[in-house]
Amino acid sequence: MHSILRDRESDWRPVISLEQEMPVEDKYSYNSGFGNEFATEDPRCPGALPEGQNNPQKCAYGLYAEQLSGTAFTAPRVSNQRTWLYRIIPSVKHVPFERYTSNPLMSCSLDEQVPNPNQLRWKPFDIPSDPTDWVDGLRTVAGAGDPRTRNGLSVHVFVCNTSMKDKAFYSSDGDLLLVPQQGNLDITTEMGRLLVKPNQICVIQQGIRFSVNVTGPTRGYVLEVFNNHFVLPDLGPIGANGLANPRDFLTPVSWFEDRRARFEIISKYQGHLFSAQQDHSPFDVVAWHGNYAPYKYDLANFCTVNSVSFDHMDPSIFTVLTCPSAKPGTAVADFVIFPPRWSVADNTFRPPYYHRNCMSEFMGLILGRYEAKESGFNPGGATLHSMMTPHGPDAECFEQWTQKELGPIKVAEGTQAFMFETSFQLALTKWGEETCEKVDKDYYKCWQRLEKHFKI
Ligand SMILES: [Fe+2]
Repeated sequence: MHSILRDRESDWRPVISLEQEMPVEDKYSYNSGFGNEFATEDPRCPGALPEGQNNPQKCAYGLYAEQLSGTAFTAPRVSNQRTWLYRIIPSVKHVPFERYTSNPLMSCSLDEQVPNPNQLRWKPFDIPSDPTDWVDGLRTVAGAGDPRTRNGLSVHVFVCNTSMKDKAFYSSDGDLLLVPQQGNLDITTEMGRLLVKPNQICVIQQGIRFSVNVTGPTRGYVLEVFNNHFVLPDLGPIGANGLANPRDFLTPVSWFEDRRARFEIISKYQGHLFSAQQDHSPFDVVAWHGNYAPYKYDLANFCTVNSVSFDHMDPSIFTVLTCPSAKPGTAVADFVIFPPRWSVADNTFRPPYYHRNCMSEFMGLILGRYEAKESGFNPGGATLHSMMTPHGPDAECFEQWTQKELGPIKVAEGTQAFMFETSFQLALTKWGEETCEKVDKDYYKCWQRLEKHFKI
């Protein structure tokens, strides 16, 4: 939970400076709403979408009909997800998959994952200087469970500087939640195109093929969940509105290209990468309808709620999206943010309380900069506070905030931290623990100055 505050060491004041990227206009069109049943066709081919049925004997324009199932055929109607694609060539036309060897650093292999109960902090992950696209810049930091039994998750980062050329990626293992931290992601999917900037996220579900264009050094985080699709959290007594509102989720409209090329399709399958060649672009879907489609969300639209009297609410109030497990109220993983907000609680130790959690907490920082704290929690870095690993404010933070005069203050201005919180025990990959060379060995020291105040 929210260790961002602790890492400011002596001060919980809002921060500081924010390096804004040059604004890039999003020229793509979207439909709005979370989990809606959409129907869209590229305006170059009016009437491409069949009316009143899914699978006519002959589709308009000579298209092929193809269903993409995101849930079991027999899943309850409320959770059933599928999309019908009307495309130039069905996706079955490719030559056999072979091992993809161009990214030896991405390995989710269960054999390589090791336990480490320490408080962990990573300095910002390096972006390669050699040409590296999104697929080849994918690195797995930690994981749990097994995609073979559809139970668990992986935490990845991506570090790249080059667009994917004639190359598409999909995960057979689970849904991907992408959190860009530096650089915009210009993403082409089978269902259309999305521009995803830092402080925005997108979800690309299991099986959906996509290609990422970038314009320079680019970095971000990925949460991959094997069990279920992401949903909005229930609001309970909060009521019908607040947190992430459904209308702010944007799904692309249909767009296609009719292009012959030596195209490479990369599949992440059981934690390994495979490659298959085909002679045409997979982004040839002229029209589609359904409720299984990627979406994006701007974190600036998150409507924060919190205590306006005293004490802390639990950080679950900051949940944007959740992937539920079979156990009620217990997530495979929550995506949680700590946005700019007012802090007003009376007679309350305002920074996060000391705690130990039966969940694992992986945090990253999207925006914000600390005052020359090279070893601190910086944008593009990360922390992991594992199951029952204690964490909380450091000594200076504790001293200052037990003495401070309280009043309304704006916290976290110009910053955006997030957390992947999971009910699974995360184990580290070799890359996450060693190869990346970013683990801050001194992290534990920030708690060593805590003194005894006890007096009788
Ligand atoms: Fe925590």
